[in-house]
Amino acid sequence: MKELIKELTQVYGPSGNEEEIRNKIIEEIKPYADYITVDNLGNVIATKSGPGAKLMLAAHMDEIGVIVTNVDEKGFLRFSNIGGVSPFTLIGQRVTFPKGVSGVFGMEKIEQIKDLNLSKMFIDIGAASKEEALEKVNIGDMGVYNRQCTILGDNIISNSLDDRVGCAILIKVLKELKAPNYNIFMVFTVQEEVGLRGAKTSAYEVEPDLAIAVDVTATGDTPKAHKMAVELGKGPAIKVKDSSILCHPKVKEALISAAKRKGLPYQLEVLERGGTDAGAIHLSRSGVPTGVLSVPTRYIHTPVEMANLKDIDMCVKLLIELIQGRQ
Ligand code: CO
Ligand code: ZN
Repeated sequence: MKELIKELTQVYGPSGNEEEIRNKIIEEIKPYADYITVDNLGNVIATKSGPGAKLMLAAHMDEIGVIVTNVDEKGFLRFSNIGGVSPFTLIGQRVTFPKGVSGVFGMEKIEQIKDLNLSKMFIDIGAASKEEALEKVNIGDMGVYNRQCTILGDNIISNSLDDRVGCAILIKVLKELKAPNYNIFMVFTVQEEVGLRGAKTSAYEVEPDLAIAVDVTATGDTPKAHKMAVELGKGPAIKVKDSSILCHPKVKEALISAAKRKGLPYQLEVLERGGTDAGAIHLSRSGVPTGVLSVPTRYIHTPVEMANLKDIDMCVKLLIELIQGRQ
């Protein structure tokens, strides 16, 4: 599992540019799915048929990043955000563009650090002129955090655990499934970070009877953190609410009872800010009962997102029990 997460987090794939990560995921699931299709927006839909209701499982394969908006005469790039990127996170960081181009973030002289915003920052790719810079990158090219994944005890620290860890969980579930009680539609969605866009079209297409999104969620367990009853290493989090959804009691209860049957610890999650693909899925067509299984994660949307490997393994076990256990 460690190795799979490590591999997935190294692959480039900001929102709208998911081709490389899509190919990687298809390569991983090909031997295990009944059918794999890629829809018009680029979502990967893998099926594993079973006798029961249509269950959609979703994890997003895109990641946050930055997009080049302008190149100045001296070759410095100006940029905007793709998804939730804080300027404070970018100070001192490296950025990776396609074709092996890399750079670093810099900022203008500012009096008060609190006044920092993305428009006062730039990317230096070591070019001496506009022409030289444009040989390496173009307007609209997307950069992502420098790739680095490390294991620290039971924890894994990496860029893009949001939501490659969810993708890894779904891949592992698919690999281990034998006789599902549901008709499984596993969807690796695009463009979650810019507004749950891939989830919207794929849910319409799949038309599920019920759905579960797998994604990261914040924790309240670091010094003077915002109060939240989720901690790293205390088991999978079963979402009750975030700003995109009130999870359907039926799906929430199914997740809880699967955890209980397996004797797995779990935590109930109320996330005050943020959302997941579930926000779009549950509003598809005439509505889809939807829940979320979350991986407790510290420092979300930074290059050093931290999650617990035992929590991750338990997410896999819980989902397998939900899908093929005896109710
Ligand atoms: Co995110
Ligand atoms: Zn996410």
